[in-house]
Formats: sequence, structure tokens, C-alpha cells
Amino acid sequence: MLKHCVALLIALLFSNGSTYAQLSDQEMTRRADSLIAQMTVEEKLGQLNQVAGDLSNFKRVAGILPVQFQQIREGKIGSMLMVYGADLTRKAQEAAMQSRLKIPVLFGFDVIHGYRTTFPIPLAESCAWDVELAERTARMAATEAAAAGIHWTFAPMVDIARDPRWGRVIEGAGEDPYLGSLIAAARVRGFQGADLSADNTILACVKHFVAYGAAEGGRDYNTVDVSERTLREIYFPPFKAAIDAGAATLMTSFNEISGTPATLSRFLMTDVLRGEWNFKGMVVSDWESINESRVHGAAKTNDDAAVLAINAGVDMDMEGELYVNLAKEVRAGKVSDAVLNQAVRRVLLAKFKLGLFDDPFRYCNAEREKALVLNPAHRALAREAAQKSIVLLKNDKNMLPLRKDLKTLAVIGGLAESKRDMLGEWEMVGRPEDAVSVLDGIKKQVSDKTTVIYSKGYEATRGKESLSKAGFVEAIKAAKKSDAVVVVVGETADMTGEAHSRASLDLPGVQEDLIKELHTLNKPMVVVLTNGRPLSIVWTAEKVPAIVEAWHLGIEAGNAIADVLFGDVNPSGKLTMTFPRSVGQIPIYYNHKNTGRPINPQNPNDRYKSRYIDLDNTPLYPFGYGLSYSSFEYKNLRVSQREFRGSESVTITVDVTNNSTVAGEEVVQLYVRDDVASVTRPVKELKGFKKLRIGGGETKQAVFTISAKDLMFLDRAFKPTMEAGTFTVFVGGNSAQTLDEKLEYLP
Ligand code: BGC
Repeated sequence: MLKHCVALLIALLFSNGSTYAQLSDQEMTRRADSLIAQMTVEEKLGQLNQVAGDLSNFKRVAGILPVQFQQIREGKIGSMLMVYGADLTRKAQEAAMQSRLKIPVLFGFDVIHGYRTTFPIPLAESCAWDVELAERTARMAATEAAAAGIHWTFAPMVDIARDPRWGRVIEGAGEDPYLGSLIAAARVRGFQGADLSADNTILACVKHFVAYGAAEGGRDYNTVDVSERTLREIYFPPFKAAIDAGAATLMTSFNEISGTPATLSRFLMTDVLRGEWNFKGMVVSDWESINESRVHGAAKTNDDAAVLAINAGVDMDMEGELYVNLAKEVRAGKVSDAVLNQAVRRVLLAKFKLGLFDDPFRYCNAEREKALVLNPAHRALAREAAQKSIVLLKNDKNMLPLRKDLKTLAVIGGLAESKRDMLGEWEMVGRPEDAVSVLDGIKKQVSDKTTVIYSKGYEATRGKESLSKAGFVEAIKAAKKSDAVVVVVGETADMTGEAHSRASLDLPGVQEDLIKELHTLNKPMVVVLTNGRPLSIVWTAEKVPAIVEAWHLGIEAGNAIADVLFGDVNPSGKLTMTFPRSVGQIPIYYNHKNTGRPINPQNPNDRYKSRYIDLDNTPLYPFGYGLSYSSFEYKNLRVSQREFRGSESVTITVDVTNNSTVAGEEVVQLYVRDDVASVTRPVKELKGFKKLRIGGGETKQAVFTISAKDLMFLDRAFKPTMEAGTFTVFVGGNSAQTLDEKLEYLP
């Protein structure tokens, strides 16, 4: 009987083809190769060709042009992007099934922070310092997207960013490679799940390789010139972490680096990625980035660029339509069969793993799409993520939380009624009507005795800064009539994101003037910031008693902000990017080097030091900073042993007391400085953190364990090494205020 069952099972597995996704890597490769052997050069190149659907009506209707359907039937399109929806993707797969070899199309989409259920922008979510949360939101985003025919997200974006002028800081996890690596890996796990062929998992694409965040002047797409050391210490680690977590694909970046467009860099795409990191997945260019290497001045013709890119190790051409026309170059031997087949194999393997060869329609299920997209569980997670992303920057005299039964509450600011801006700049299929504005969130939560008076004060119009003060008079009138004032200011979503670099980090337009005028009324006043980057809000930080950093929090923004304003949620977020006092301090980040002439904190005017004559060196808010309605005190930092050697580990413990009556969460942070080394080390490097929930009046211990492997660095030959010597250990609630202890590693 058992024998019979096993035979039946095997027959089932291998009969109707529901098996490809389960094959061993070796067998999968063998099958890919036997398919490749049947392909013409044109069909091979077709697999490497990724094109966007019809963008003219994008969002209201995702479209595929008739000519594209024809190209799919001819096997000239291997992958599409900007196409979504179970019905449309099904139609495309039907066309693919009419092609000679019936190879399914791969649908990629920018599921950056949610599909239709929009979660907080990734920069915001990173402020939760909650790796598990990052995995859960990615998981849910994948579930929704996969039901709508999507196979592949162009996320996570893991570019470390030290320059808030760069609009794309919204997409990453901030400035720190340690935290960035943990979040990168978590998001990969979330998108891909345990089984890529399941109908609720999609391929992740770690991007943009590499150092895109180091664009000179913070100007998007600009030149990057960083040392190999900085690449390896700062920009590489989140990519490596994502790959180690199993990221199936990787995207190149638009920038050049050390004189080579990243998309043409054999050093990056082959030597590092394949050689050093053993990456087996597929590499896709960024949008027309192969074509742009001509504009960089690195290739004479588009064909030259394409030859250089494919030989460098870029498997798929996004929207450039260059690879698809490379047959002549292939026949002339400029691209070897081995290189071409290798690229095709990687694309086919991705399709095998997704189960598309078992069932090309697996991901296009209109019923599932309807049931899953924007379902209540997803909304609940969006609210939780938004609550956890909020950072309380200031709360003098416990101005917050506000009482729900105030007689009159003024809500001021054009952004307060915006739904669209809450979605952030990568909203894609997200819809404003799904979002809760700050005003609506507040209105829902105040008591029925409270009158909420709304006045715009300034216009939050997409595409332009509001320079008119026409709304001030009415806003001031509203504030005068009220017991407290909530002013919502910041950036419209389109001031952030791709191609939206800013030269100023001030509040846009007349917003600060409005705050100043309202401030003269001496009313209890809270500023809520909704924005996509650190802002230099020096005046506000000094004068306004309460400031809440609420970013672009997604569809549940207004509810989550109200949860915090009225105290149903005790804020626990901590900044993952330094807030400068002025744009002139950029780049400013906590893990900088000491220099030979560091500023003397006891005598900041000491002349020949590394400092400005017109501004402090210190940031407005440091990395790791964030307050709570609880107040936490750090005491008794202790190490289990002062000296350690070999593989011994040291336990570092600190007592954290909640001196308030409200329970709260605190992110306890561990930093280390290697005092003297053969390569200079940063003044502090994050090495661990613990998020503790501590009741009012309660004390808890945060316990960390570190050993030599956590303290290694790259020697001059870029090999991980550990040298004998002393280390300073810092523990605290942010990177600037810490207790410290000494450790010594013995030879
Ligand atoms: C962006 C990528 C994105 C791609 C597809 C490019 O402009 O740089 O991050 O994935 O477009 O939308």
C-alpha cells in the first residue's frame, strides 16, 4: 500500500508539472539548460528584456499595449514592470502561452512599502527599530501583491544615506549599516517567505548596487566617489545581509562610482557579487541605466553599453530595450554564448522557483486579489507600524499627550487634511481615499464635547511650495479660539523620493513663519511633522514645546498620529538618520571618524579644531534619538569581565528605570569604539540594541553579549581582523547620551 502511495505521489509530482519549483538546484539548472538549448538567440535575448506596460493610464488602469501582447507571443519580452492586477497579468500569461516555448512572463513591481495597503515609508518604519515588524509588513505586502499577479518586488532598497538632501532617503533604513543590514534581511525574508513558489510570496530585489545614497551634493543620480573602504564598511553590508538572507535578485544603481557607471561595473556585479558573496540570483539594471552609461561617457553607442553591461554581469535590461536587439553583437562574438546563457539561466531559474512553469496563472487570482487587498488585518498592521514609526522629538512640561476632552482644539496646516501625502511618494496603487488624514484621525478621537476647528494656514499643493500667507489670519483666529493648537507641517510627498532632492532642509515655504505667528499666542502648541527626510527645524525645536515626527505613515497615518497625540499609544520610535542643524553640516552622521583635531567639547571655540566658526558641530537630533511619555534613566553599566581573549564573550548590562507612571518602550542601544587600530575606526559604531517594555516605576536590565567576532574590522587588505587593544563600550537611549565602560582584548 505504502509503495503504491509513494508511486502515486511521484507520478503526480512529475506528471502535470506541478514540480519544477520543488526540484533541487542542480536539477532545476539542468532543466533550464535543456530549455536554453532549444532557444534561438532572439528568444534568449527576449528573456533578458524587461519592459514597462502602458503608462499612459497608469493607476486608473494598468495597461499592456497591443504591440506588447504581440511581442510576448513572439517571445521578445521576458519580464514586465508597472503592470498589475490578476486579470491583466492573466491576459499576458495567456499570450505567453501562445509563444513558441511558452515561457511565462515575470511581473515586477515597486512594492516598496505596501501594495494597496500602504505602510509607513521605510525610513519611518526603520525608526521602530523592530526587525520583526519590518518582516511582517513585507510579508503582508507580498501577500497582497502576489494575489494581484505580481511576482517580484523592486525592494528592499538598502542604500545607506548620510545626506538628507537626497530625496530617496525615504526608501531606506537610514544611516547605519548594522541596523540597515538587519532590516534588509528581515524585509527579504518577509517578501520571499520560506517558499518562493507559494502563492503569497514574491522575489525580493535588493537595490541599488551600490552607494547610490552617496550622490554628491545629495543630488539624485549624481556622481559617487567613495573609497573602497567606505564601500566595504558602510555601503556593502546591507546588500551582503540581504543576499545572505536569500534575496533572489539585485538591481544596479544609476550612479557612476570611481569612474565607472555601476551598471557597467564588473568589479561590482561579478567580482564582489558573484566572486566574494556567491550570489546566485539575477541582476537587473535600473530603468534605462544601461542606455545612460552612454551619457555618463562610458560607452559610445547603446550597443556598446549593452555589451559592456551583460559582460559585467547584468542579466536583465530594465526598460532600455537594448539587450533585445543584441543578436548582431552575439553573432559577432562580442557576447559569448556562455555569458548569454548564464543570464538567461538566471532568469529562467527565477521563474522556475516561483512555480511559473508549474502554473503560469498561479499568481493571477481575481478572487484572492479581492479578498486580500486592503483587508482589515492589513489595515491593522498598517496602524501598528505607523504607531511604532512615530518619533517624539520634544515634549516640554509633558505638553503631550493632549486631553481628549479639550473644549476646543485647533488643527492647522494644509498637510493636516491631506490623504495623498500620507501615502508617501512610492504610493503606486495606493489610493488617497484609503488613507486617514491627520485631521480625520484627530476628529475621530476627541470627545463629543470637543470642537475641532480646522484652518489650513498654508496650502499643501503638490508641485509647489506654498508662499502665500493669505491663510494666516484665519489660522490665527482659529488658534485664538482654542485651548490647544496642533500645527501640521512638513513636506508634500512629491518633495521626497526619486528625483526630488532638496537644497534646503527648512520647512518649505511659509510654514515656519506660520509656526512663529501662532507661537506668539502663547497657547499650548504641538507641531506634527509629516515629511520624508530629516529637516533642520532649529527655531521650532527651540521654541515649540512639543514636536512629533510623523513622517509619511501610510493609510493609517491619521489614526496612528491621533493615537500618539492623545496618549493611547506611548511613542517609542528612535531616529535612524541624524537631523542636522543646517544643511551646511552635511554629511553628518553619528559613526564618523575622530580626526586629528576633534572639537573640544569643554572649549568649543578652541581655534584650530575641526569645527565651523558659525555653527556647532553637534546635530539638532542625533542618531538613535527619540523621547517617550515615560522617562527612562540609565544606571549601573557593567561588563562581566574587563579583559577578554580568543572567542570569549563579554556580557554588558545596564539598568533602565522608568521614572514615570506610564509604561513605555525604550530602545536601549549599544555602541563600541575601537580606541586604537591599524585602520582608524569610527567614534562609535552600533553593535546591538534591545527594545524593552518597562512599566511605570519599574527597572529592567538590558543585557548584551559581545565577542571578538562583533568587534572585527577590515584590515588594509579588507580582510576581517581583530587586534588586541582597548575598546570603549557605550550604552544609552541615543547615540549622543551614553554611559561608558572599557574593555580590553588581549592577544
Ligand atoms: C528606480 C528604481 C525602480 C525602477 C522601477 C527606477 O527609476 O530607480 O528604484 O525600481 O525605477 O520603477
